[in-house]
Amino acid sequence: MSLFNVYPLFDITPVKANDVYVYDENGTQYLDLYGGHAVISIGHSHPTYVKKLTNQLSNIGFYSNSIQNPLQQELANKLTTLSNCESYELFLCNSGAEANENAIKLASFHTGKHKIVAFKNSFHGRTSAAVAATDNAKIVAPVNAQQAVEFIEYGDVASLHDVLAKGDVCAVITEIIQGVGGLDEATTEFYKTVTTLCNTYGSLFIADEVQSGFGRTGDFFAFQKHGIEPDIISMAKGMGNGFPVGGILIHPKIKASFGLLGTTFGGNHLACTAALSVLETIEKENLLDNVKEVSSYFINKVQQISEIRNIKGRGLMLGLEFDFPIAELRKDLIFNHHIFTGSSKNPNLLRILPSLTVKKEHVDVFINALIKALELQKV
Ligand SMILES: Cc1ncc(COP(=O)(O)O)c(C=O)c1O
Repeated sequence: MSLFNVYPLFDITPVKANDVYVYDENGTQYLDLYGGHAVISIGHSHPTYVKKLTNQLSNIGFYSNSIQNPLQQELANKLTTLSNCESYELFLCNSGAEANENAIKLASFHTGKHKIVAFKNSFHGRTSAAVAATDNAKIVAPVNAQQAVEFIEYGDVASLHDVLAKGDVCAVITEIIQGVGGLDEATTEFYKTVTTLCNTYGSLFIADEVQSGFGRTGDFFAFQKHGIEPDIISMAKGMGNGFPVGGILIHPKIKASFGLLGTTFGGNHLACTAALSVLETIEKENLLDNVKEVSSYFINKVQQISEIRNIKGRGLMLGLEFDFPIAELRKDLIFNHHIFTGSSKNPNLLRILPSLTVKKEHVDVFINALIKALELQKV
């Protein structure tokens, strides 16, 4: 049986990984500044993570959500401590799309409304409402297109006001820093206005922190820089350091009832253990401080490279914008310098999404390689 061919693949086969390094079957070492698309948060095969997951697996790996699982409450408690989102409640699922799907569904249940407002260049996942709220017609099937979604220019307050004033919007969903879309972020004033307009017109504000959350920006959540309080916060990627786990944080004004949301796999013992190991390591190794320190070092270094037109993003969710498409540059970095980086919808943007454990010495290796690769581009 062949595989359903939906991914254009690089011809590299990682068989082992450790912290910021990945190794292929020939033992070639790659510096991973992509983190499997912002997923690796505490480093590949972190010893605490491996130990806790191994122990958990030898005790109990899974049972459904029909029994007591104290690990879920332990995770909720630890999340409260690290994120300061004290009054919120936690619902666990398995991926980013699923987190957003549940967030939108919950907003619709709570408000009794059906329309979604999303922004141009957004990416929220590939399931029903999540993909309908994603600004990419190519991945929206006719069955998804039935959802009522209004796309607005990011930061356009007047249009947002006009749409919300019609009174049929259940949720405004936004990434605080757009990931796939190319690292754009609106102003604090804009996010505050979204909050006010949602309150005025009876809609909920969903912050999609699937990529930007769990410390990636140096704050636990990216929205915290803006002093806002979203109604629902979705999270996934860095949460499990590669173990599939996602979740939503839900404001106490939204009330739970039996059967409102549900999942077979969500919040299982291994998933909770993975997320707990991530949180404990973020705390123990002061990774939020490391993100800020390495990020400013990185930004300072890349500012000295004249070919870079724009540096976008925050923390370790960064984009380097050139005035040419980066596809060849990215290939050169992978195959000749053995460094993984990312791309985005913006063809000129090279994305940097390393593990939060990355060090200045790794930045130096990247900078030297980038300078050499850029020289080659000129030839
Ligand atoms: C901001 C954002 N939301 C949602 C998703 C979807 O997550 P998943 O692929 O885990 O379903 C992604 C994935 O890239 C993302 O970047």
